[in-house]
Amino acid sequence: MKHPDDDGIRVDYAAEIYAAMMGDTEEVGNTAEVGAAAAVTSSATSAPATSSFTSSSASVSMPAGSPSTNLQTTSASQCEPSAAAALLSAATHAGPSAHSDTPLARELSEITRRRHALAAEVLPVPDKTRVLTVANQKGGVGKTTTTVNLAAALARGGARVLVIDLDPQGNASTALGIDHRAETVSVYEVIINDELIATVIQKSPDFDSLFCVPATIHLAGAEIELVSMVAREQRLRTALEKFLAESEQPFHYVFIDCPPSLGLLTINAFVAAQEVLIPIQCEYYALEGLSQLLTNIKLIERHLNPVLAVSTILLTMFDSRTNLANQVAQEVRDHFPDQVLTTLIPRSVRISEAPSYGQTVISYDANSPGSLSYLEAAAEIAKRGAPQ
Ligand SMILES: Nc1ncnc2c1ncn2[C@@H]1O[C@H](COP(=O)(O)OP(=O)(O)OP(=O)(O)O)[C@@H](O)[C@H]1O
Ligand SMILES: [Mg+2]
Repeated sequence: MKHPDDDGIRVDYAAEIYAAMMGDTEEVGNTAEVGAAAAVTSSATSAPATSSFTSSSASVSMPAGSPSTNLQTTSASQCEPSAAAALLSAATHAGPSAHSDTPLARELSEITRRRHALAAEVLPVPDKTRVLTVANQKGGVGKTTTTVNLAAALARGGARVLVIDLDPQGNASTALGIDHRAETVSVYEVIINDELIATVIQKSPDFDSLFCVPATIHLAGAEIELVSMVAREQRLRTALEKFLAESEQPFHYVFIDCPPSLGLLTINAFVAAQEVLIPIQCEYYALEGLSQLLTNIKLIERHLNPVLAVSTILLTMFDSRTNLANQVAQEVRDHFPDQVLTTLIPRSVRISEAPSYGQTVISYDANSPGSLSYLEAAAEIAKRGAPQ
């Protein structure tokens, strides 16, 4: 059996993992006392092929690459509950130890602290509906993920929120569990056939105050159909203004999820909104194309929508272990000190797998680090308020 003081990783964080997953710091102490906090010894450094959780009574071998062997490089904020569960299970089989001041334990208690801080927070709601267009012509930077998770986070905080899916891919509709089969009446009919938003809107199955205007594949043809239409850049704004004016209960937020292009659909979104939210992925090409996006927004502001402003930039898929992510984040903060949210969205398996269950990460795994980050970002947006 490997001695606890060997250079392998030894963690007695069973109680902290439990607390992070179950959300009660008070229980930590009790669990630790009653359960005699376990020690987990990973011999990953000395035995590369396997790592072992050892205890006085049991030894469990795990294949290399399993969550346990990644302990040295995996921070708690990136430690998904499934990994945490594996660690917890192993820890409960391990022997007694008194060490709780490990980096992982500290990070897990930090997660618990964040959860408590969020639970204590009451989010202000705006007096007037805030319409935010989530745009970046670069593909796959987290526009849809940001749209649905911020919307869900704000709805969970008590706001009435509408998501308009303006991307023919229909990803926001999928992530919100909203029907968007080809025959569904959708945002396409709103833009092209003057259908009322009130007749196409659907309620989220997970949040009572979250609604969605779905997108179907028909929207792919709208870019071309719009070209010859009268007031082609204003179609969404006209429909949205009418809807908001006639809505019995006021909406606090509208999020418009854009496709990865700067075509007429995105222009419609810019014209309908007061604010632009730009998600930026923390990687090398992140800033390429940003100047073109900003130039387009300036043009819209000058010619079509004088109130439009980039109010919010959110750094997404952040991986704190890489220097590159830190450099990109710093560069974006240097350029846009007033717009970039303090909250960073970490790269998270939970965030990426939630849509496959037709859910946001807020409903799928509310206590995961990714969910907490979106809840914190939403709180920041609510507290900052609309730009004056
Ligand atoms: N924080 C994150 N951690 C891990 N995966 C993420 C995260 N954010 C987004 N993803 C994943 O990255 C991919 C792209 O995200 P998303 O669809 O939100 O980007 P997008 O900008 O809307 O893309 P598109 O330009 O195609 O509309 C998706 O598979 C999503 O699940
Ligand atoms: Mg998208």
